Amino acid sequence: MPFPAPLTFALFISIATTTIGQGFDPLQHSGAASPYFDAPSQSGVPIATPAGCVVDQAAFIVRHGSRYPEPGSFTGWQALFSKIQNATFTARGPLTFLPSWTPPVDDLPHEPLFLSSTGADESFSLGVKLRELYGFTKGGENLTVWSAGQQRVVDTSTFFLRGYLSQGNYLTTPSSNRGTIIALPDSVNNTSANSLTPSAACPAYATGDKGSATSNNFRATYQQKIADRLNKFLDGLKLVPTDIGVMQDLCGFSAEVSGDTRFCDVFESSEWLDYEYAHDLNYYYGSGPGNPFSATFLSMITISTVISALGLWNASQFSPLSLTKPNPNRQFRSSYLVAFRGYVALERLSCQTCCNVLGQSDAKTTQEVFVRADNAPIPIPGCASGPGSTCPLKSFVSYVNTTRQRAAGDFVQRCGLVGVEGVTSVASFLTTTPDDAVTQIVGL
Ligand SMILES: *[C@@H]1O[C@H](CO)[C@@H](O)[C@H](O)[C@H]1NC(C)=O
Ligand SMILES: *[C@@H]1O[C@H](CO)[C@@H](O)[C@H](O)[C@H]1NC(C)=O
Ligand SMILES: *[C@@H]1O[C@H](CO)[C@@H](O)[C@H](O)[C@H]1NC(C)=O
Ligand SMILES: *[C@@H]1O[C@H](CO)[C@@H](O)[C@H](O)[C@H]1NC(C)=O
Ligand SMILES: *[C@@H]1O[C@H](CO)[C@@H](O)[C@H](O)[C@H]1NC(C)=O
Ligand SMILES: *[C@@H]1O[C@H](CO)[C@@H](O)[C@H](O)[C@H]1NC(C)=O
Repeated sequence: MPFPAPLTFALFISIATTTIGQGFDPLQHSGAASPYFDAPSQSGVPIATPAGCVVDQAAFIVRHGSRYPEPGSFTGWQALFSKIQNATFTARGPLTFLPSWTPPVDDLPHEPLFLSSTGADESFSLGVKLRELYGFTKGGENLTVWSAGQQRVVDTSTFFLRGYLSQGNYLTTPSSNRGTIIALPDSVNNTSANSLTPSAACPAYATGDKGSATSNNFRATYQQKIADRLNKFLDGLKLVPTDIGVMQDLCGFSAEVSGDTRFCDVFESSEWLDYEYAHDLNYYYGSGPGNPFSATFLSMITISTVISALGLWNASQFSPLSLTKPNPNRQFRSSYLVAFRGYVALERLSCQTCCNVLGQSDAKTTQEVFVRADNAPIPIPGCASGPGSTCPLKSFVSYVNTTRQRAAGDFVQRCGLVGVEGVTSVASFLTTTPDDAVTQIVGL
């Protein structure tokens, strides 16, 4: 696992929230449709950098900021809208707003899949946050962001850099306050391990992906019950299970697109927890630790595969995730891992241990590693002996390069690509820019 030059890529923000009951926020239980929020501390490890340590290098692996829905999801919203518009009905209680509701997409050619302004804000804020937190560079010092090729990811990178670069006045020396985005083309067939979008490069991957199957099965266990409850508030319109899925997605998306949280208030907390678990199953068995091929993307960058590669959030007492019964104490939570602009960060810390019993300085400097997900440090299994449950750098290297390497296997072999022309198991884009990458300078 490389620790690239001072910084890699990053992203941060809090968002308007709604609450149901005491302290329950559906926007923190909406899985991949959750706008960014800080994850709570994990295993009791404090969020702050341990006393006596400073972060001297960091690499951030970040999901794009909040965006408009995928075209397929939007089609579902439109179908719900037509169904409502077609019906002559009355609605009460939490559904009183339904007759006047319109979907939060008003400029179809320019919105689905693209970043929303909340996503831009989240991205910019992460740039600001990292500059405040680390102060690694004077000016931008050509901070490099490696981006996947999709427009929403490139835009996330651009807003991030603009936030990072927004300190001081460099009008007379603009070259001192710049960043570079290296956008790698989307993985098509067999771009192999040297990619930021690896799953399409691994033919075997799809065979291990049980994400949709497991989440669809789980949804089937609760959606009818919710529809039955809600139909009591309607005369002349009948909700069916698929409408429930659409309506729950509309909580996170409407909140981030237009600040409308009315769908968040329709469902009870237990219904949100079931919805969240369906997301958890989708990621755990799709691109996370429950897909036997996920860890193979050892040096690759999407978030749940990085978690798998590092062997995190998969403690044996909670794994594999039950297909039918959510364990409320489980570690793996999609809302903490793949919320919009969610991130996994590797921080290298330089720590002074001081002093001896007499208080005399026999200071010793050690190097340690923290892995954070959405701000919360996650202890590395079997390696938490450093200050504040950090992992000694030497042990981290051997954990990644030996233990996890063994669990992951070789990319080309595991993916069934032996003998295919042009494939490689090595992700070298951090040190050698591929010919088909698009490089862009960002300044203010
Ligand atoms: C709306 O009504 C029209 C005309 O009756 C029908 O063709 C269409 O399928 C209906 N749409 C929905 C979503 O129910
Ligand atoms: C900035 O970084 C990019 C990518 O790392 C590199 O190609 C470029 O030469 C650098 N520019 C300067 C002025 O250092
Ligand atoms: C990828 O390969 C599949 C089958 O091998 C083919 O159908 C598809 O068009 C290819 N996609 C691209 C973008 O080359
Ligand atoms: C991709 O790999 C498969 C084998 O998994 C091979 O059959 C196919 O020809 C390769 N496609 C390209 C575009 O190289
Ligand atoms: C996650 O844990 C399960 C059960 O202990 C194990 O089978 C699986 O290999 C683990 N996943 C990874 C990526 O290590
Ligand atoms: C990791 O292991 C490979 C051989 O598998 C070796 O070439 C490389 O130097 C090792 N990296 C570190 C940082 O120890």
